[in-house]
Amino acid sequence: MARGPRVLRTVPTLRRALAPWRNGAIALVPTMGALHRGHLALVREARKRARRVVVSIFVNPAQFAPSEDFASYPRNFADDIAALTAAKVDLVWAPSPAAMYPDGFATRIAPQGAALAGLEDKIRPHFFGGVATVVAKLFTQVAPDFAVFGEKDYQQLRVVTQMAKDLDLPLKIVAVPTLREPDGLALSSRNAYLTESERQAATTLYRVLKASAADIKAGAPIESVFMAGRAKIERAGFFVDYLEARHAQTLAPVATIKDGPVRLLVAAKIGKTRLIDNISV
Ligand code: PAJ
Repeated sequence: MARGPRVLRTVPTLRRALAPWRNGAIALVPTMGALHRGHLALVREARKRARRVVVSIFVNPAQFAPSEDFASYPRNFADDIAALTAAKVDLVWAPSPAAMYPDGFATRIAPQGAALAGLEDKIRPHFFGGVATVVAKLFTQVAPDFAVFGEKDYQQLRVVTQMAKDLDLPLKIVAVPTLREPDGLALSSRNAYLTESERQAATTLYRVLKASAADIKAGAPIESVFMAGRAKIERAGFFVDYLEARHAQTLAPVATIKDGPVRLLVAAKIGKTRLIDNISV
């Protein structure tokens, strides 16, 4: 069996391990574990960019509201390490919650702009503060030259990119397109929650996004396209949190395709599971 990556759990051991790698490039892939092919596509992109690849696995309590799925979020550490061994990752950064947020921790990043676009933030008001805070910490702990994020979490990608720019962080944010199942469903750790019939219905999200993008591109008014799209998603058994067209960079609302580049974003709940997806027009 291939030798696996080193697994480190405290900041001082992490710093010591990274010091000799500083003369080449280091790429970081932040994750919450329960790794799937989408995460591994990020790792492959990281490999292309840098000699050393660090993957962080940390289910970040700060980005879950008390009512959300922090306790039940899927955790498969042994499987994750096996997948990262096969992907030839150099180091796994897996701090405990106490190493990340020691007693007396009292600082929080408060992202604005894209973080207040009225999409995920509307439903999860504390989410991007939690994400930005942990990602800023991961960036200063690892000090990577590249950090790789998925387009799957599009608003997160915009928030993290803006934060790196605003704080003059000396690294490049790299975006990777969304990996999908053959029927179009975006890969997600939360897909594991879906029952068989919910899994069938879940393909509706991508189908509606694709059809809406085609109609909007062909000149149909955005509002009427989404009225039909929303009805289709609801008929499949979802409660729709949002289905929106936004400027791909700023996430500001767009009235027509001329205000673009345009990104379509959807979030919807089926049973106990909340799914998000997005595509470009
Ligand atoms: P997590 O949901 O584990 O996702 C880690 C990274 O994998 C994110 O950049 C996400 O966009 C990407 N990803 C997830 N599914 C993908 C797919 N189907 N195709 C391509 N990329 C995909 O996002 C988080 O964790 C956390 O918020 C984190 C950034 C780690 C901060 O805690």
